[in-house]
Amino acid sequence: MKLLVTGGAGFIGANFAHYTLRNHPEYEVAIVDSLTYAGNRESLKPVEDQIEFVHGDICDAPLVDRLVGESDMVVHFAAESHVDNSLHDPEPFMRTNLFGTYTILEAVRRHEKRLHHISTDEVFGDLDLDGDDQFTEETKYDPSSPYSATKAGSDLLVRAWARSFGIHATISNCANNYGPYQHVEKFIPRQITNVFGGARPKLYGQGENVREWTHVDDHNEAVHLILSKGEPGETYLIGSGDERSNKDILELILELMDEPADAYDHVPDRPGHDLRYSNDSTKIRTQLGWTPRYSDFRAGLEATIAWYRDNDWWWKPQKEATEARYTQLGR
Ligand code: NAD
Ligand code: DAU
Repeated sequence: MKLLVTGGAGFIGANFAHYTLRNHPEYEVAIVDSLTYAGNRESLKPVEDQIEFVHGDICDAPLVDRLVGESDMVVHFAAESHVDNSLHDPEPFMRTNLFGTYTILEAVRRHEKRLHHISTDEVFGDLDLDGDDQFTEETKYDPSSPYSATKAGSDLLVRAWARSFGIHATISNCANNYGPYQHVEKFIPRQITNVFGGARPKLYGQGENVREWTHVDDHNEAVHLILSKGEPGETYLIGSGDERSNKDILELILELMDEPADAYDHVPDRPGHDLRYSNDSTKIRTQLGWTPRYSDFRAGLEATIAWYRDNDWWWKPQKEATEARYTQLGR
């Protein structure tokens, strides 16, 4: 059984390749990735002898057609993934997230292959800060940023291709991930690597916004359950249930790194900043038997900090350019 993994040099896709080769020897893994600023071949170094890597663009229809034809299933991670970048320049988001997904869908349709589309809870917009309501598989789409609008569009394309052309596709919408190999533009790695580099962490606004944090291996285990037991045409929400404010997370990072609790700067808030995300993941838990293994967030965060400490060769080359982009954005 051969899996074609799009975006496999990115954070979740690379962890997916590692996780698959560790836990699912029944699969061969081929990766297609265009190596944007967010893609890194080094993330695949530990598995490079066990995978087929194709440096290519998911908008390249002849290439995608060939690769899909040679595979049994497609796991579609490739995307432009960072909200702040989408507010600065939406164009690559339109291209990869919408046109790239369309290109995959057409190849999957021609070759009658199974597709799993990786999406995000951001397609639903946000929830009240003080409420205890949650997103469900039935929540209506209401995206806030160019990133989430293009992810919402890609989900709708998948649903339309399933209904009108009968492709066998599933969708999952996961909450925020953390773990090794995450780009230093994202919240948790940015703060950890700021501290290691002697710079002060940056909190948007007052840091009251809440995210639900899921370890990347728990996300990837859920994806495997969907591949093996999921029903074509179905959508599954994934989330650990562990909700925390950005301020609480930052203070925990500072505590675990032996820094004073107030050793950070407030910076101007992200425009349109979603307040709170929270997924009701009852469906995947009861129907497919998913349970997150990383139930101790503090321990997971500690391990993540240790990974960035031990692997500065991996993140240091990206750090300066990332902070220069943030300086341009005023954040
Ligand atoms: P990432 O930005 O770390 O990685 C994206 C990868 O896609 C990179 O390797 C990049 O080179 C590749 N890519 C981009 N455009 C491409 C193109 N046109 N052709 C081929 N490859 C291309 O992203 P991530 O955080 O690993 O997210 C992966 C997926 O998971 C995305 O679809 C994202 O929407 C979704 N998601 C992410 C999170 C999260 O917390 N990071 C949570 C839920 C869902
Ligand atoms: O919910 C899933 C989504 O999670 C994914 O779809 C996205 O691809 C992924 O990037 C993530 O989106 P967020 O916008 O929630 O993640 P980010 O790491 O950019 O920011 C997390 C929170 O931290 C958010 O409220 C903004 C805030 N933040 C971020 C940065 C980079 C800060 O306070 N300071 C920062 O320096």
